[in-house]
Amino acid sequence: MKLSTAIAPSNLAFLKYWGKKDSKLRIPYNNSISVNLGSATTITSVNFSPDLERDIVIVNDSEQDTTSGFTVRVSKHLDRLRAVANEKSKAIVKTKNTFPESVGIASSASGFAALTVAAADALELNLSQKELSIFSRLGSGSACRSIPDGFVEWVAGDSNDTSFAQQIAPPDHWDISIVTVIVSKDAKKLTSTSGHELAVASPFFKSRMETIEIHLNRVREAILNKDFEQFGRQVEMEAISLHSIAMTSPFTANGWNSGAYYWTPDTMELIRAVQEWRSSGLEVYFTLDAGPTVHLICRREDEGKIEKAVRDIEKNIPLRKWDIAINRPAVGARVQQEIQH
Ligand code: PMV
Repeated sequence: MKLSTAIAPSNLAFLKYWGKKDSKLRIPYNNSISVNLGSATTITSVNFSPDLERDIVIVNDSEQDTTSGFTVRVSKHLDRLRAVANEKSKAIVKTKNTFPESVGIASSASGFAALTVAAADALELNLSQKELSIFSRLGSGSACRSIPDGFVEWVAGDSNDTSFAQQIAPPDHWDISIVTVIVSKDAKKLTSTSGHELAVASPFFKSRMETIEIHLNRVREAILNKDFEQFGRQVEMEAISLHSIAMTSPFTANGWNSGAYYWTPDTMELIRAVQEWRSSGLEVYFTLDAGPTVHLICRREDEGKIEKAVRDIEKNIPLRKWDIAINRPAVGARVQQEIQH
């Protein structure tokens, strides 16, 4: 056993997963396709020690309560890897994100991918990329897509061993950029874990499933052929498809709600701006995960223009401040033995 540190990117799904056919094993209804985000990463170190009585989880330098949901989830995940290594020791887990949590950038994806890679390395398990992807999936579904490099497809499968992610193209395959605009840092009211459970209750879930395969193939093809127009149109339609499901899946939280609205007025303002930019000749498409953050997808050469256009819209309301991150396709999770924090 040793101290190991791993860094993992978050990922952004172009064809998304929303709904699990097995929630315990986190097996989704459909395949999904994503890209690793170069500027949204988690760095996690894991140090097993026979002297510890319990797992200690430190997030952004602050020790988490033993009973907190996150500590329990991390501990459970370590148990899965400890079981394979036949190891009883508890661990100190230190983790930091380069971006805010619960706003529509999957921190659980980068978090559980980094945790899996660091813990597997510390336990000297020597797991294959497929095995790392499977273990990451058990921690958080989309985490399995943060293991391979670049553009990735998560094959839904139908059992623990057949549900994992694999590369469809390396990071340098295509010069696209994602201008991520964090319009609000307020944590969302409905977690994606709950959203997945509720999805099937939407009257539109069945029709989404009926055509998802066609859209999946189109997104994959557009990436492989670098067909930006076909890609952008599919990706934008897909984001709206997911949000239509979320908005029509009733749930109870402090009373009954007809559905979950992850958007804020700022999200809507940016969606409308994208339509205007396109009509004036700037080719950009949006996608959104389960949060208000807007991801603007553009050609690499348009990154600067998009950032400037976003800043111009931001000024529509005095003193409004959005965080913007430029994300390029990136490598997947990896061990960083020399880094300790
Ligand atoms: O893996 P989770 O539970 O964080 O779910 C991710 C859900 C979406 O981000 C909305 C879609 C996706 O495929 O990443």
